[in-house]
Amino acid sequence: MSLEARMHKSMIGRRVLSTIFYFAIDAAAPLHAEVPPGPKWLQTAVFYQVYPQSYFDSNGDGVGDLPGITAKLDYIRSIGCNAIWINPIYESPFGDAGYDVADFYQVAARYGTNDDLKNLCAQAHKRGLHVCLDLVAGHTSVENKWFQQSALEQINPYSNWYIWTPPEEKVPGSQLFPGEQHRRERYLPNFFPFQPALNYGYARPDPKKPWQRPVTDPACVAVREELRNVMKFWLDLGADGFRVDMAASLIRNDPDHETISALWHYYRAWLDQHYPDAVFISEWSDPAVAIPAGFHIDSLLQFREPYQILLGSEARLDGDAREPHAFFERAGGGDIRAFLDEYLRHYARTKDRGYIAIPTGNHDTPRPTWGRNEQDVRTIFAMLLTMPGVPFIYYGDEIGMKFLPEVPNKEGGTLRGNFGEVRRCGSRTPMQWSKEKNAGFSTAPAETLYLPLDPTESRPDVATEENDPASLLNFTRALLKLRRERAALANAADFRPLYAEKNGYPFVYLRQAGSERIVVCINPAGRPCAAALEEVGQAKPLLVQDAAFREGRFEMGPVSFGIFEVER
Ligand code: NOJ
Repeated sequence: MSLEARMHKSMIGRRVLSTIFYFAIDAAAPLHAEVPPGPKWLQTAVFYQVYPQSYFDSNGDGVGDLPGITAKLDYIRSIGCNAIWINPIYESPFGDAGYDVADFYQVAARYGTNDDLKNLCAQAHKRGLHVCLDLVAGHTSVENKWFQQSALEQINPYSNWYIWTPPEEKVPGSQLFPGEQHRRERYLPNFFPFQPALNYGYARPDPKKPWQRPVTDPACVAVREELRNVMKFWLDLGADGFRVDMAASLIRNDPDHETISALWHYYRAWLDQHYPDAVFISEWSDPAVAIPAGFHIDSLLQFREPYQILLGSEARLDGDAREPHAFFERAGGGDIRAFLDEYLRHYARTKDRGYIAIPTGNHDTPRPTWGRNEQDVRTIFAMLLTMPGVPFIYYGDEIGMKFLPEVPNKEGGTLRGNFGEVRRCGSRTPMQWSKEKNAGFSTAPAETLYLPLDPTESRPDVATEENDPASLLNFTRALLKLRRERAALANAADFRPLYAEKNGYPFVYLRQAGSERIVVCINPAGRPCAAALEEVGQAKPLLVQDAAFREGRFEMGPVSFGIFEVER
């Protein structure tokens, strides 16, 4: 069957299924979770995101590396995580921290060798950890040999692997690639100008613009197949799947997401057939679309609404408030109902097919500690690690590392646009392991580290927190232990909001599996509050911070949470 026919067929299937989901699920009713399809390990997966250049430097050159990650697998396991996602590790000029790939088949020398990755995967597997790589599917570096060939004036097999636009059309964003032997057309970038977009084709090419090629164009088909070769290469080496960078960006002029969905269906069918234990995780932030398109997991992220309503956007702080207001702020001006309206829409459409992730943070957004103290962060973790879906913990968040907006811009860390300035490097500083030199990250001279360390004396570190039963690290471990041990908290166990008032606090929800029922109450506001719930008879505290159940009411202190086992 041709790809076009397959795309059409998969779209029909998707429409029928999503219609059924909409009618079958009422947000107020108990939502019984079928375990979603996909590998069994996802049912209990908890991810840890590693930014490789900042994790652990095993050879003293100031930059973290793959043997460094391997050396820390036992630590990652000890937190309660059983899967890792590593940011791009491929050969790159590092204009965008490795999201500008020069060679998709080669580990960058600064991180080690392909054999080091093979060894990392083998060592991870021995410990029950899965390893996902970052698949930069939408673009390459201008230094990639595919692009170098494509840019040549002389026609060659790579000429249309990128989107070249006639100079006289002045297509917005198009870039000139200077050089005597280079073509005069301008290429379209996908993110930074030095990241030319790979040409997967246009869903609806404009017949008046012949440079907009259909997805069936031989060059677009070649690009599509090459991406599959890249995936195969790393899966054969031991990887367990991919976090797909800008997963929605591959197809252009595709307003209904039909063609991009069909493309991911195509890859997913291949994955299911040849690597049924492997997974796709999308950077899309639209689970209702991404999961039916074929992803196992999609994350709610800082650049879209449900996440922003919950945790805030790019951390514009005003005293205790975030601008715009977020549910997780002491000022208590957030609206959990607005979050739920969005969340439940995504959940209803995806819960039988895949998982929603709400990460603690990532390499693009300020850390949760930004403008918050540890008590605040605990309330965030109490929610994120008891919600359905797959949790993702960003390295260092588990010890309360700070967001450091003052660190210098490095490798494309600072973004400037009409949204203002986003200083991503503040969340990319070296992991703090101990009180030793360079916080135990590296033996290199401090001035040669990838990025400067948090300079404050009180900076948190793993060794100190290991020895403190009350530390954030041990709290994170306790939460994940509870999640592991309680079926009602498993990734696909039922979820139902019990108390969620517009502009009100607390937020109370039920998790359930069989007869086991767990109620979670979250109050990030700096004032006490309470919720009376007739349907709860007895509630036994499992893990609480200033919260109690008395005479049918959950009574919450300022900035508090409670996780209770309930009898009815
Ligand atoms: C999303 C990645 O998370 C970000 O770090 C990167 O700069 C862009 N995609 C471009 O690849």
